[in-house]
Amino acid sequence: MENKTDISYCRKDFSILQTQMNGKRLAFLDSAASAQKPACVLAAMNEVYESGYANIHRGLYGLSQNLTQAYEGVRSRVASFINAQSERNIVFTRNATEAINLVAQSWGRTFLSEGDEVILTEMEHHANIVPWQLLRDQIGIVIKTVPVDETGALDLVAFDQLFTHKTKLAAFTHVSNALGIINPVKQMVEMAKDFYPEMAVLVDGSQGIVHGSVDIQSIGADFYVFTGHKLYGPTGIGVLYGKAELLNDMPPYQGGGDMIETVSFDRTVYKNAPYRFEAGTPPIVEVIGLGAAVDYLVDIGMDNIAAHEAALLEYATAQLLEIDGLSLHGTAAEKVGIISFTMDGAHPSDIGMVLDQMGVAVRTGHHCCMPLMEAMGVDSTARASLGLYSNRDDIDQLIEGLHKVKSMFS
Ligand code: ALA
Repeated sequence: MENKTDISYCRKDFSILQTQMNGKRLAFLDSAASAQKPACVLAAMNEVYESGYANIHRGLYGLSQNLTQAYEGVRSRVASFINAQSERNIVFTRNATEAINLVAQSWGRTFLSEGDEVILTEMEHHANIVPWQLLRDQIGIVIKTVPVDETGALDLVAFDQLFTHKTKLAAFTHVSNALGIINPVKQMVEMAKDFYPEMAVLVDGSQGIVHGSVDIQSIGADFYVFTGHKLYGPTGIGVLYGKAELLNDMPPYQGGGDMIETVSFDRTVYKNAPYRFEAGTPPIVEVIGLGAAVDYLVDIGMDNIAAHEAALLEYATAQLLEIDGLSLHGTAAEKVGIISFTMDGAHPSDIGMVLDQMGVAVRTGHHCCMPLMEAMGVDSTARASLGLYSNRDDIDQLIEGLHKVKSMFS
């Protein structure tokens, strides 16, 4: 019987993985920062520029009509990828950061007022902290945070205790980009809605979307955001999913062309969602690239990707635990292939530099999660993160590199 979880055939689709770094085989273990792109994504984008390019939504001629259709087709395919109710729930943004800023400035400025409370968690990426701080400085909302325990898991009892009659929004990540911990987002949405059905819930899916299948209707969040470049697509394209009843009540975030029905100096009438949130010429070719990435992932199967990465995570974790003086951060049971660690005697930046010389690409630092680092009692970690193309050779090369670090610094 065919082993569906053997997705090693995919590696050939990523030509960069056949290249070298510092004269060594490239072991790319920084997919959480940004994933490599398969040939089909590059080809789809190239084909548009070479033979199908025009602006969209504006031309009656064939090139423009065809590309408009292709662009809107991606909206439908993204909707079905996350099981959204309809393509009208999908807003294209520049990235996940812009999607969160859009919600904060459009929904937040309209529906929140001074003293209203927003619950975040200690494990949020700065992209799900700073937009709410900007809003706090503008209108006086109050930010409360859910702590993490020593395994990196969220304290759900504390989450429950933070709700008050002033809580209007809970915003939390699906999967920690720094530790790989998977949050029980469906349960957390239920807890919020049980307390107060009108409470809005935003889930940052930047990592959640990458490592397994997402059914947004089952999760039940009002907003779900993610970015294309971590999902094997191009940079410059992100997605905001929003429930129709919220999106349709939200004012535009930016004004300009393409988001209006009529404009006069007295009065402008905006298009309905999602189009009212896509002012100006959108990232047309990036949307096409995202569509190709989604098709590619659907073809492989998100469950197969999850199973492949889980097996590799187990393989890597067992070997990392054997290295004397190495500490893993984020040890809760539910996690994806993102492994944060520190080593006695070697600063994470030392680890990163030695690994670089060995052909191993990892991220070091605070991973845009300074409050989480503080909560975990470290200022930075080294982070190895897996993608669908990662394999045992990558892990073996990482382990060999870490033994070298150990021999140099302990
Ligand atoms: N947010 C990206 C990361 O986790 C850049 O590395």
